[in-house]
Amino acid sequence: MDHLREQILKLREDFTKGTLNEGDVNKSPALEFEKWLAQALESQVPEIQAMTLNTVSPEGKPASRIVYLREFEHDQYWFYGNYNSKKAKHMEKNPNIALSFFWPDLQRQIRIEGTVTKCHPNNSDEYFNNRPYESKLGSWASDQSGELSSREELINKVEELKNKFTPDTIKRPDFWGGWILQANYYEFWQGRKSRLHDRIIYVQENNVWKIKRLAP
Ligand SMILES: Cc1cc2nc3c(=O)[nH]c(=O)nc-3n(C[C@H](O)[C@H](O)[C@H](O)COP(=O)(O)O)c2cc1C
Repeated sequence: MDHLREQILKLREDFTKGTLNEGDVNKSPALEFEKWLAQALESQVPEIQAMTLNTVSPEGKPASRIVYLREFEHDQYWFYGNYNSKKAKHMEKNPNIALSFFWPDLQRQIRIEGTVTKCHPNNSDEYFNNRPYESKLGSWASDQSGELSSREELINKVEELKNKFTPDTIKRPDFWGGWILQANYYEFWQGRKSRLHDRIIYVQENNVWKIKRLAP
């Protein structure tokens, strides 16, 4: 164990893969995001759509977990999950949330903040209907964030549901759907040598995006 701690302490990577300048970024953060996403896709960064979703409970306790980005357009970022889950309860009472992406291969981080709403049920239906049957069954079977007595309980529920719904009849459960983050803050972070990283932020002032640089 001491060896493990020593190894972790010694891990140190210098970031040298890119630079980020105020003059080079797009005036629109949504377009800058798309540019970075396209570059990540091109570089075959694994799981680029995985983002950390940070929420805060009504009592002010934060929690974070990974979810998948599914759609994006005009400063809106869409993700899906269970409307009874812990994150859902947080977002119901406190719509201020934050997302972050880390793409190690590009030495890049993106942070997005804003407020969240549930998407229209028709949009959730459309997304759900395009999921594989097994994923659909999983959404029905999982009382997400609820306690299970065993893994068998979950598996048995899936088996029961297979008898109830065929691939043709399975519809979205009311307790499952999408959320949309409306962004009001972005940060694009490019790792640089000797920890002198580039951090370019976009803040909204009177409906105009202002571009600023932060100290690393
Ligand atoms: C790579 C990855 C992708 C995930 N994608 C989703 C997702 O899109 N939606 C979701 O509800 N949970 C997703 N999860 C599971 C969540 O991290 C989390 O366990 C779940 O949403 C329950 O969180 P909660 O109890 O805070 O609500 C994903 C986990 C990982 C590791």
